[in-house]
Amino acid sequence: MIKEVARLLVSAKFAIAFTGAGISAESGIPTFRGKNGLWNRYRPEELATPEAFKRNPKLVWEFYKWRIKKILEARPNPAHMALAELEKLGIIKAVITQNVDDLHREAGTENLIELHGNIFRVRCTKCDFKEYVKGKRLLEEILEEDLPKCPNCGSLLRPDVVWFGEPLPEKELNEAFRLAEKSDVIIVIGTSGLVYPAAYVPYIVKESGGTVVEVNIENSAITPIADFFLKGKAGEVLPKIAQEIRRLSK
Ligand code: APR
Repeated sequence: MIKEVARLLVSAKFAIAFTGAGISAESGIPTFRGKNGLWNRYRPEELATPEAFKRNPKLVWEFYKWRIKKILEARPNPAHMALAELEKLGIIKAVITQNVDDLHREAGTENLIELHGNIFRVRCTKCDFKEYVKGKRLLEEILEEDLPKCPNCGSLLRPDVVWFGEPLPEKELNEAFRLAEKSDVIIVIGTSGLVYPAAYVPYIVKESGGTVVEVNIENSAITPIADFFLKGKAGEVLPKIAQEIRRLSK
């Protein structure tokens, strides 16, 4: 099956990748559902909704500081690296991700669409201030304050991620749908496929006559429309696909 998928990707006119939390699991970042999922331990409505933030911004910031610290310890794993390599080889034209962990960017992926924002970006709850704060300021200011404040207007800052019940960033969502309509192959990696509108992306490729390849350790809501299902860990399967593609391209 790896050989078939490698040939499919090499011969594709416009192949893209769509990723979820599962691609970062082997970097040590907990997923949301399934075994050890975050939403098994915490209630999303208490931590990842605008109402929760209004009700208890300190608690929500505690949760995000915990996640930021966990993600700062994480490194891209072989799955992220393989996708970045396939982009450099011209095989993968874009990565559309639901993840906010910045690991695709760190791995070197350039054409990256982040549908749910980025945990290293903060934005003001009042004015249009937005800042990508991965460095010093994050560690010595943002993470030190109980309630980080906007340097522009003094209002409360929030993580620039999409919470339940919030709209996705329009530019990114439109671009993701445009790319999906154009794709003849999509490789879906490490997502339960349960959260919309992001989960529409593989369906748009399917409905446009494209081929869906899924990489997951277990069945997901996408599996029913997958033409190829590669059961396994992303960090093991993706490097095998990249290796086969390198062999084919010799
Ligand atoms: N390799 C491949 N797949 C894996 C691995 C792995 N090592 N580990 C877990 N998975 C799979 C799981 O089987 C599951 O299908 O990754 C998927 C993770 O699903 P979720 O935890 O639901 O994550 P995701 O699909 O990204 O969630 C979508 O929900 O909470 C919101 O905004 C959040 O972006 C997130 C969205």
